[in-house]
Amino acid sequence: MIPIDFTGKVALVTGVTDWDSFAWHIAKALAAAGAKIVLSSHPRVVGIVQSILDRDTDADKRVLPYGAGSLKVQKLLPCDVSFDTMDDVDEQTRNDKRYAKHGDYSIKGMIDAVGKEFGGIDFIIHSVAFSPEIKNPAVETSRGAYMTALSISAYSLTGLLRAARPYMENRPGGSSAVGLTYLGGERVVPHYGGGMSTAKAALQIDAKQLASNLGPKNIRVNLISAGPYASRAARSIADIEEMKKYAAARSPLQRSIEAEEVANATVFLCSPLASAVTGQILYVDCGYNTMGV
Ligand SMILES: NC(=O)c1ccc[n+]([C@@H]2O[C@H](COP(=O)([O-])OP(=O)(O)OC[C@H]3O[C@@H](n4cnc5c(N)ncnc54)[C@H](O)[C@@H]3O)[C@@H](O)[C@H]2O)c1
Repeated sequence: MIPIDFTGKVALVTGVTDWDSFAWHIAKALAAAGAKIVLSSHPRVVGIVQSILDRDTDADKRVLPYGAGSLKVQKLLPCDVSFDTMDDVDEQTRNDKRYAKHGDYSIKGMIDAVGKEFGGIDFIIHSVAFSPEIKNPAVETSRGAYMTALSISAYSLTGLLRAARPYMENRPGGSSAVGLTYLGGERVVPHYGGGMSTAKAALQIDAKQLASNLGPKNIRVNLISAGPYASRAARSIADIEEMKKYAAARSPLQRSIEAEEVANATVFLCSPLASAVTGQILYVDCGYNTMGV
C-alpha cells in the first residue's frame, strides 16, 4: 500500500481566511490522511474561521476529500507573522482591540503553543502573503510597502522555521515545511506589484537556504508554485478570472488548477514518498511555467 498515513502527525497550517484559501484545502487533505490539524489565522479573521469551523450551514465546506469524514481541528491560533515575539509589536497594534483580545499572537507564541501541547510539530504549511500596494506596479511601489511585502510574505518562513526548529528536529521519519509561491517571483506578471514579486523571489531562495540549514536535522523545506486561483487574496489583485483564462489557454493541460490539486501536492511533499525531496519548487500550474509563448 502507498505509505501516506499521517496518523499521529501534527500539522500546523497557517494562512486560513475562508474556505477558498489554499490553506483550508491543504488542512482538509492533511486531515484526510490522518494528521492532527492546528490552524493559524491572522488575528482579524480568527472569528470568521471559527464560525466556518462551527456553523451547521458551513458543514459542506468541512467535508474531507476521499470520503474521510469532516474536518476537525485541534486548535485555531491567532498569529500575525509580522511579529516574531510580542516584544516586536508596535504601540498601535498593541492597543487595537481586534488584536488585544488574543493575548500572544506572535510567531513564537503560536509555535510554542503547538509544540508544547503536542510535543512536536511534523508539518508546517506557510500560506501567507500580503502587500499593502499589491495593485501598484513595481515602479510606483513605496519603500514601506516593499518592506512590508518582504516581511510578511517571505521573511515569515524563516521566522516560523527558526521558532519551530526545536519542535521539528529529529521527528520520526523527519518533518516537512511547505510554502506557497507564484511564477510572479521569477517572471514579470503584470499587476503582481507592490513588492510581491520580489517577496516571492526572496521566498524561493530562502526555501533553498532553509532546506540546507535544516536538512541535517531531517527537516525538509519545499515550495509549491501554484497557478492562478480565485482566493480572496487573488481577487484583490486584478481580474483573476481573466488571469485564469489566459493561463488555461496557454497551459499544456488547457485548464485552470483546482485548490485540491495544490493540497494533494502538499500531502505528497509531507509524505515519506518525498523523503529525499528538499529545497525544491514543485509547479502545480497545469504546466504553464514551461511555455515560451
Ligand atoms: N491564489 C493564487 O492565485 C496564488 C497563486 C500562487 C501562490 N499563491 C500563494 O498562496 C498563498 C495563500 O494565498 P491564497 O491564494 O490562499 O489567499 P488567502 O487570502 O486565502 O491567503 C492569504 C493569507 O495570508 C494571510 N495574511 C496576510 N497577512 C498576514 C499577516 N501579517 N499575518 C498572518 N497572516 C497574514 C491572510 O490572512 C490570508 O489568510 C500565498 O502565499 C499566495 O501568494 C496564491
